[in-house]
Amino acid sequence: TPISLSMIVLAYLFGSISSAVLVSRCYGLPDPRGYGSHNPGATNVLRQGSKLAALWVLLCDMLKGTVPVYLAWYLKVSPFYLGLIAIAACLGHMYPLFFQFRGGKGVATALGALMPIGLDMGAFMICSWLIVLLLSGYSSLAAIIAALLAPLYTYLLKPEYTLPVAMLCCLVIYRHHENISRLLHHQEPRLWHKRGSNR
Ligand code: G3P
Repeated sequence: TPISLSMIVLAYLFGSISSAVLVSRCYGLPDPRGYGSHNPGATNVLRQGSKLAALWVLLCDMLKGTVPVYLAWYLKVSPFYLGLIAIAACLGHMYPLFFQFRGGKGVATALGALMPIGLDMGAFMICSWLIVLLLSGYSSLAAIIAALLAPLYTYLLKPEYTLPVAMLCCLVIYRHHENISRLLHHQEPRLWHKRGSNR
């Protein structure tokens, strides 16, 4: 297991690279930790108005999950450790060593880390997220519902990964506690304005 243990550390370090902060710098946009939800993630970068920058953040954050898990899988690391590597990548994104431990909520990185389970898993996750987003307009609610469904999808597709996926999803949901309280108080901003509503 020296390989597995070094992969966990590497996944954490790789996850610690904040795409939202770096991509924003490249595009001359302000630091996402200073506006909107203060979250360094694709959703908040989108609030700044640059769809292209937000897309880059989404892609890079997903790769932070996909690359270490896929590499470890290729090196024949056991399912238990693959789960820990996925969690380490997300912990890096959420509590980044290089960015004062002020990270994001782990949605894109968790999605990326789940991709190696299979394209069917990825498709289920993206569809669930999109359906809730399109119906509600809330990026956070879409992420929370997708995270609640992920362990169920995993159980149906690759049951041996259910426990680590459930742990990962608990972490992602926990990071949304402020969004959850805003949703409950009808104070969460939608990504777009609904007709007939001022929020
Ligand atoms: O990607 C994180 C998303 O679920 C919520 O982000 O900026 O609306 O708090 P935000």
